[in-house]
Amino acid sequence: EFVNRNDAMEKWDFDLERADKEGTIQFSKDHQIWSQLHMIQLTTKDLGMLHLAKPYILPWFDEISEAFYASVLQVESLKQMINQHSSVEKLKVTLRKHIEEMFDGLINETYLEKRMRIAAIHYRIGLEPKWYMGAFQKVQAVVFERLMLHATNPQLAIQVVHSFNKVLNLEQQLVLE
Ligand code: HEM
Repeated sequence: EFVNRNDAMEKWDFDLERADKEGTIQFSKDHQIWSQLHMIQLTTKDLGMLHLAKPYILPWFDEISEAFYASVLQVESLKQMINQHSSVEKLKVTLRKHIEEMFDGLINETYLEKRMRIAAIHYRIGLEPKWYMGAFQKVQAVVFERLMLHATNPQLAIQVVHSFNKVLNLEQQLVLE
């Protein structure tokens, strides 16, 4: 069977038609980000989709964060980097918040600036892009897994995964800049 039903996800369903109204992209008309958003077809509908899906995904955020760090810590040099600059316990909290924000349904200047600041922090501690990209794959994989295992409406889950991938891609665009 496709779904592995769980109480928290039992009513996993929402009206796709509502998605358009639930997402906001706020930039001046001539902002350069528009062409990047356009290239990946990231629209307010995607953001709305993520916003509507957020309550269903919330119960899985801790697990997502755990899985992320389990994979990062397998790389000895990354483990040392974390212990030198911070701690896994601290980063689990900041990562969780970071991913949660991707489901807020809003992308504006503050969102972009924050993401670019975080990218700069990683650059400063010497995190190489190959590891950064590898970590994104892990985020994508765990969110995908949770959605596919627990969503009761597979069509909806696919749409949400699709929208989430776009938001992740935007972030990678910012990180590589
Ligand atoms: C800090 C997210 C990958 C190591 C942070 C912070 C966030 C974050 C939100 C907090 C920044 C702040 O203080 O405001 C992410 C995301 C990643 C990623 C979304 C990839 C998808 C990695 C990887 C490592 C890492 C692979 C491996 C070493 C760190 C360290 C800090 C940090 C050491 C603390 C830096 C400091 O405070 O000096 N990360 N991270 N991150 N991250 Fe990551």
